Amino acid sequence: MAMTIADLKRMKTQGERISMLTAYDATFARLVEAAGIEVILIGDSLGNVMQGRSTTVPVTVEDIIYHSRCVMRACQRPFVVADLPFGSYQASLEDGLRAAFRLMKEGGVHGVKLEGGERCVPLTQALTQAGVPVMGHLGLTPQSVHQLSGYRVQGKEAQAAEALLQDAQSLQEAGAFSIVLECVPRQLAARVTQALHIPTIGIGAGPDCDGQVLVLQDCLGMGLEKPAKFVRPFAMLGETAIEAFKAYAHEVRSGTYPNDGESYH
Ligand code: KIV
Repeated sequence: MAMTIADLKRMKTQGERISMLTAYDATFARLVEAAGIEVILIGDSLGNVMQGRSTTVPVTVEDIIYHSRCVMRACQRPFVVADLPFGSYQASLEDGLRAAFRLMKEGGVHGVKLEGGERCVPLTQALTQAGVPVMGHLGLTPQSVHQLSGYRVQGKEAQAAEALLQDAQSLQEAGAFSIVLECVPRQLAARVTQALHIPTIGIGAGPDCDGQVLVLQDCLGMGLEKPAKFVRPFAMLGETAIEAFKAYAHEVRSGTYPNDGESYH
């Protein structure tokens, strides 16, 4: 059975944690589905992990649509959310509505995620009224990296924590079905999670959220740089891949790949 936003809300009510991962292509979407992950995000983090960029700022609606199509061809059960990329929803409500409709109609996804608090309330309302499930995103919002002066923990001061809680409540009232909390102190994430009836999904926000999300490449240990403090690699596929590539190159160079059994006769 395909996951719905009602299932995700029921999971929160019943105290069942939600697992969410990003995916950007068919191969990994298939594997993520096979593992029983409830939510897939076509994150604008594709700018970093697929395109090699240093921020998510340049990612376009076309990029998200392309990767959404790749993912949607490969999975049926997870609820699939795609990011509205930077610049596609900040200028006007119409821009945001049109971009979201494109992600759903052309990309085939089930819902959209947008970054920001109070300023995203009118669009969240308009989208939900138009039938688009909206996931909010508070705390460290990477699309605003330059405004935030870097990738740093948010909501540490009392006033910022209160503002974040207020933002979360406003998004919930506006119709958001869930909210990602990125890089906020554990106690604040726990407070927000308790205060809301919609599920919170944490990343760098401690264990008290209703669910967790990781960038797939981080989850699999595929990065070459030291990961952020909150990232636990659940495999070391990066090292495994390098070893496999070296073994392949060695056998090609020595003429032992392919062998007779791997050749047509
Ligand atoms: O783009 C992304 O992958 C995200 C997650 C890290 C939440 O927004």
